[in-house]
Amino acid sequence: MGRLVIVSNRVPDPRERNKPAGGLAVGLADALREDQQTLWFGWSGRQVEADADPVPSLDTHGTVTYATIPLTPAQHRGYYQRFSNGILWPLCHYRLGLMNYARADWLQYLEVNRMFARTLAPLLKPDDIIWVHDYHLLPLAQALRELGVTSPIGFFLHIPFPPWSLFRALPPATALLDDMKAYDLIGVQTEEDAQNLWECMRLEGMTDPSRVVACPIGIDPVSFSEEARDAFNGPEVRRLRESLHDEPLIIGVDRLDYSKGLEERFLGYERLLIRYPEHHRHVTYLQVAPVSRGEVEEYRLLRRQLDETIGRINGAFAAYDWTPIRYLTRPIARQTLAGFYRLADVALVTPLRDGMNLVAKEYVAAQDPEDPGALVLSHLAGAAPELDEALLVNPHDADAIADALHLALTMKKEERKRRWNILNSEIRNTTAGSWARDFLKALNRSRKTSAG
Ligand code: ADP
Ligand code: G6P
Repeated sequence: MGRLVIVSNRVPDPRERNKPAGGLAVGLADALREDQQTLWFGWSGRQVEADADPVPSLDTHGTVTYATIPLTPAQHRGYYQRFSNGILWPLCHYRLGLMNYARADWLQYLEVNRMFARTLAPLLKPDDIIWVHDYHLLPLAQALRELGVTSPIGFFLHIPFPPWSLFRALPPATALLDDMKAYDLIGVQTEEDAQNLWECMRLEGMTDPSRVVACPIGIDPVSFSEEARDAFNGPEVRRLRESLHDEPLIIGVDRLDYSKGLEERFLGYERLLIRYPEHHRHVTYLQVAPVSRGEVEEYRLLRRQLDETIGRINGAFAAYDWTPIRYLTRPIARQTLAGFYRLADVALVTPLRDGMNLVAKEYVAAQDPEDPGALVLSHLAGAAPELDEALLVNPHDADAIADALHLALTMKKEERKRRWNILNSEIRNTTAGSWARDFLKALNRSRKTSAG
């Protein structure tokens, strides 16, 4: 069996017990197999001034070697902050109005992809299988091919792919799609994303749609459920439980990102308080929202806006012994988070668009089968087609969120158990491990087909 080479912009720090917030690093780390030699290549998270290409730092843990490189401040700005997160991220989340295009950023993005290829190529062996991840690295396969790399190269997009009518607004749309032809196989999260990408590629003259597959990512439900059970008896969950005095808890967990629909969600919760006053002084909504991409302007604005909305709602509805919304922007240890999910009666997961949304799956895995909580989920999350026994809502409709929350808070145990059993078998069916296995199998097949 050849070595697996994973390439992603964000690489988890193997010395940190807690994985960073973000579905890519969490899902991939859960998918790594212990019997598979792996090289994981990407950005070190550091910025260093330099005139020449960096030398990768190597750090081996078991069967995985992490090879990471720093970026210069100019590369970080043009490639990561601006082109990846100020242009591709909003575009792929259907937010054209937030896209700030400048040609210089596109050129920096291409150059950093070429630099990734130049620094990775010397580490490669002939029988490696290469698997590239996410929107930061769309042109990487083409850059590697130009350096003579002939190994199979697959790509997985963790975020949505928009329809051609939107994607064509990106000035280098054609050039990007053209570069993507260098992949042997491209995986996306949902059938909708696959249809959109097929259509774009068809219009660009790429006639073989078998090279795009929908392959939804999952979690490691067995270990996550154990973590939740262990944490449930730990000091953090005990303190949270004591602070609630046997009253219900709604939980939300998201990076502080405009795609997560946080503002709309708070307005939905406000509608619950207005329309169903029986919940006053009883229900608590805990929103955990670690700050993400704080250097990007839109994220800074969002943070300020949320501070204001939460302050306004708490100011209007709180009593001297009750705070309707508790809001944390600090990261929380993953195990503690698992315990909080288990304690929560309801999870509120209402992104405006999301590639998958692992939080929804983690919440299901963390429940007590004898008394599970209810999941309120946006029908625009990539997880919705699989998790359709959740209470599905349109995240733009504050009244629909309020109704779903009220239904969830008053749902009988038998109905919660019925729904949870179906949701739980879904997340046990498609796990992080089966996702990686299925994708890599398909990559091997597609390589053989194109070679034959
Ligand atoms: P995204 O990839 O857009 O961030 P996902 O829901 O797919 O969204 O993945 C988020 C991941 O980050 C989940 O595994 C979640 O548990 C983790 N996470 C989110 N917030 C925190 C936090 N405050 N502390 C630790 N992990 C977090
Ligand atoms: C999403 C993206 C990932 C990214 C993560 C965290 O999950 O799909 O590629 O790593 O968000 O964002 P960050 O910018 O901190 O890497």
